[in-house]
Amino acid sequence: MTDYDLLNSQLVALLEGESDALAAASNFVALLYDALDDVNWLGIYVLRGDELVLGPFQGKPACVHIALGDGVCGTAANSLETQRVEDVHAFPGHIVCDADSRSELVVPLIAGGKLIGVLDIDSPSLARFSEADQAGIETVCRTFCELQRTREHFI
Ligand code: SME
Repeated sequence: MTDYDLLNSQLVALLEGESDALAAASNFVALLYDALDDVNWLGIYVLRGDELVLGPFQGKPACVHIALGDGVCGTAANSLETQRVEDVHAFPGHIVCDADSRSELVVPLIAGGKLIGVLDIDSPSLARFSEADQAGIETVCRTFCELQRTREHFI
């Protein structure tokens, strides 16, 4: 089990004082990908107008444009609620980017009260993400968004 308190402290140390949003987002996904076991894809989809667009990520090349409401990411963005999917094959409209993905956690990124994107984490194992993982990842996402508020732009 990942030590999310430690991960959160590492995130603050890594991003505090960094004024470049793209660099900060890139290091955010790299830190998480390195810290989490059994994950094959992890990255950010950025809200651009009325769609999500691929941002910094680790893993295989992925689909670039996702409409709001489409797939797990678009559902998280529309509902502003984390989507924890135990079996992606059972999720209506799931968008297949990496055929290895079997379970998924998507957390909306909200900074200054506004949706700026989503964090998408995929695992090759069924039901990889527990409620404790969800709570831990939501905490680091809140920290990331809080640090983001000090910057003018998001990526
Ligand atoms: N699985 C996502 C699409 C993005 S890839 O997993 C990288 C979805 O259905 O929203």
